[in-house]
Amino acid sequence: MPPSRLSEAEPGWVGPEQIAAFAASGTTMYRLFSGPGGWIEQLGRDLLISWSSHKTLPSLLAELEGRRSRLALPIDRIFLRKRWERQGSPKLTLLSGDPALPMTTTAKESGLTYRLRFDAGDSVGFFLDQRENRAFLRISKPARLLNLFAYTCSFGVAAASAGAQTWNVDLSPRVLEWGKENYRLNGLDPNAHWFLARDAREIVPYLFRRRLRFDALVIDPPTYAHGRKGGDFSLPRDLGGLLSGLFPLCEPGALLLLSTNYQPWQPDDLFREVSRDCHQAGARIGRLPALARPVDLPEGTGPATLWLRIDPSRHFSRRPTKTGSKKPAKEHRKGRLSLV
Ligand SMILES: C[S@@+](CC[C@H](N)C(=O)[O-])C[C@H]1O[C@@H](n2cnc3c(N)ncnc32)[C@H](O)[C@@H]1O
Repeated sequence: MPPSRLSEAEPGWVGPEQIAAFAASGTTMYRLFSGPGGWIEQLGRDLLISWSSHKTLPSLLAELEGRRSRLALPIDRIFLRKRWERQGSPKLTLLSGDPALPMTTTAKESGLTYRLRFDAGDSVGFFLDQRENRAFLRISKPARLLNLFAYTCSFGVAAASAGAQTWNVDLSPRVLEWGKENYRLNGLDPNAHWFLARDAREIVPYLFRRRLRFDALVIDPPTYAHGRKGGDFSLPRDLGGLLSGLFPLCEPGALLLLSTNYQPWQPDDLFREVSRDCHQAGARIGRLPALARPVDLPEGTGPATLWLRIDPSRHFSRRPTKTGSKKPAKEHRKGRLSLV
């Protein structure tokens, strides 16, 4: 685990050296402050304060004022997000800044640009806590990525920027259009990629019949979501079925990222679940070493994530595939990978 980059002089704040490191790596969005009552994110030239109760908002605002008196922060506007809002549809509110400015901006992660919206519900369209996973996917340079529950396609953009052909699947056509914009913002032609507004559970057999095979798969499902024809999605109930359908789509040695915010499942629990499902499906999996937590996130926050290598069973490899298999990954060759 790398040392935390949270400032020692200013508890909860990311230090100036880390901010300089973000800038040097082409990253203009990150968590600035984390406290017991909420957190503050820098999103390009805007700030977003996420707060959980009326008791904690004043202390978050006081923290911000203190920091601003010590350090110049690039701030055009400050938005507020009340967490766990139960009444009405959750939305962000403008605390300060010009209300005439468009309710949207762009910000960068590792040199890639993403569209953020402040008027699209309680999320700006980008999850900072997946930074390390996107970086790992990008350096893995997959040839073909299947990005399930793609949302605004940040994983698709990361892989496509490294040369992958990408298939992004999400129930919502609206977020996929947003995803296409993210591709365009990075000079990637959305017409050279796939954006499928379908239920992930129903697309998997379709891709299998089309004989599409992938050497990277990202599965980042919601814990629970209302569905359409396929009915509601429930992670504990549906993950197993989804995975058994996915193993046959894997090229030998494919990389698979499984990520969840479902509280009872930590990475070890996820691995136990997946191991059971893969045994039933006749696939073999190897667990990759855990990636470092993003430096701006406090311990114990962020999704549980698991990176796996998939070795399809003989049953799967009988099926013809269209893509060529790639060289085994370094950790495979070195035998650092345990197969189950
Ligand atoms: C947690 S978000 C995914 C975040 C995304 N991986 C990222 O890092 O930006 C969950 C997404 O799953 C989509 N979704 C919910 N149920 C679905 C289903 N049955 N099939 C496909 N997508 C679904 C939602 O529309 C939402 O965009």
